[in-house]
Amino acid sequence: MPLNAMDISQNGNGSRSTLEGFGSIFEIEDILRSLDRPRTINVERNRSFEVSNGLSPRQFFRDAENQAHLEHLEYVYSPSRRSILDSPRGSSYFESQPVVADAWEALRRSLVYFRGQPVGTIAAVDNSVEKVNYDQVFVRDFVPSALAFLMNGEHEIVKNFLLKTLRLQSGEKKIDQFKLGEGVMPASFKVLHDPVRNNETLIADFGESAIGRVAPVDSGFWWIILLRAYTKHTGDSSLAELPECQKGMRLILSLCLSEGFDTFPTLLCADGCSMIDRRMGVYGYPIEIQALFFMALKCALLLIKQDDDGKEFMDRIVNRLQALSFHMRSYFWLDLKQLNDIYRYKTEEYSHTAVNKFNVMPDSLPDWVFDFMPSRGGYFIGNVSPARMDFRWFCLGNCVAILSSLATPEQSAAIMDLIEARWEELVGEMPLKICYPTLERHQWRIVTGCDPKNTRWSYHNGGSWPVLIWLLTAACIKTGRPQIARRAIELAESRLSKDHWPEYYDGKLGRYVGKQARKFQTWSIAGYLVAKMMLEDPSHLGMISLEEDKQTKHLIKRSASWTS
Ligand code: GLC
Repeated sequence: MPLNAMDISQNGNGSRSTLEGFGSIFEIEDILRSLDRPRTINVERNRSFEVSNGLSPRQFFRDAENQAHLEHLEYVYSPSRRSILDSPRGSSYFESQPVVADAWEALRRSLVYFRGQPVGTIAAVDNSVEKVNYDQVFVRDFVPSALAFLMNGEHEIVKNFLLKTLRLQSGEKKIDQFKLGEGVMPASFKVLHDPVRNNETLIADFGESAIGRVAPVDSGFWWIILLRAYTKHTGDSSLAELPECQKGMRLILSLCLSEGFDTFPTLLCADGCSMIDRRMGVYGYPIEIQALFFMALKCALLLIKQDDDGKEFMDRIVNRLQALSFHMRSYFWLDLKQLNDIYRYKTEEYSHTAVNKFNVMPDSLPDWVFDFMPSRGGYFIGNVSPARMDFRWFCLGNCVAILSSLATPEQSAAIMDLIEARWEELVGEMPLKICYPTLERHQWRIVTGCDPKNTRWSYHNGGSWPVLIWLLTAACIKTGRPQIARRAIELAESRLSKDHWPEYYDGKLGRYVGKQARKFQTWSIAGYLVAKMMLEDPSHLGMISLEEDKQTKHLIKRSASWTS
């Protein structure tokens, strides 16, 4: 049996009806305000309902009639659970939205079942090319699928996914003879059918089969973020309260909170340990991981029970959050003023009075960044480490920084200003660039190791990834700029379905279907659906957005460059 193959029991998921937990949601206020008080689990109040229908949430869900109203709200996106024609607005809605109808159909084709239960969606349903591992359920890829299903009132698949991946985490993980940390979550898994024993088994990949053999650091963070989205959306806190969920969360966070040689609160990572899973020079302290780390910590604060060791655990989380937001907001932030300061930096400064703390050489500033930086706007740069700043703009990290409130409101607005000001570079003809700009020639050779998949303006190297549209849309809604999302969605809509939902697009403007892009890439499909649904009903934002907590706010010293 392969090392990570294990039998997963179908039983014992301890589920309760999804609406049952709604009572508890509204009892609990801001988590950080209640840190000192004994409590079980914290789920924030869903203010969005008050906004959208004028009723308090408690009134809203009071009786069966209102529950029926809730179902009515779900009508639009239920192409298969209910017949389109059965739903009140169904048939005409889907007739006027053929791309949405096409997307739902394609999403359902990607469903993976384990012993009769849906447990995830495969990465791509493209039979025209070699499958490699695109026939597996990737943890990060499943997130937009999960959000789409939750928004559509289909909660079971998300719960199943969370429980099955948790069981995979608890197995022994070895690469060659080396044992991985207990908390590591798989990058992906697949269902193995044994026709002789008529049995099904789940097999996980923690990086031991993945191209490049890197373990995913982002999987555990996405898992926690999804658990919070599930809890928030359904109001069902029983899943997060299960001892196995509590343990899984602590194991993930223990990996990141352990003490070591670090002088920074950021997380040191290997290249290729997240969405960009090949060598692209994102080792060190990549923004994607730091932003997800921050968000996962905040979600964990809301979900972890304050039992005997829970309190101590939460103190560690709060301390790390404070240090992390200070570090990121001060050192990763770049705007015109900060750029000008770096340009004039002195080097070789010693002791606490140093301004140029990481001894960055002004000569290392790339030419493109001077043109790219608008007068209004800014962003979190790709990486900060001794003598080296990676000035590239990365989409995922900046959007997650907005959603998690790692970015201050001023910084969030500035990130959106930059996207608007650099629309052609970052969105062009297909949203959205995974990073900007591309690496070319000598740099490409050195940094990627001559990777033929990551040639300039392709794939991870400045390619355009439709999946990112859900993150952009969420960030737009949070910053009050839905019109930007609308523009991006229109662009995507005009091509995605016709092009059969490619994984990525190539070229400076994203005009070409990616060289080796898979078709019917599930997260391209789900990302589009999530963006559409969120724009139509912005109350969905609450699932994946966290407000800045008031208690820690005053402790975070603000950097002069973004308050001015
Ligand atoms: C590619 C992407 C990775 C994704 C996987 C499955 O390897 O880089 O982020 O999870 O495909 O779609």
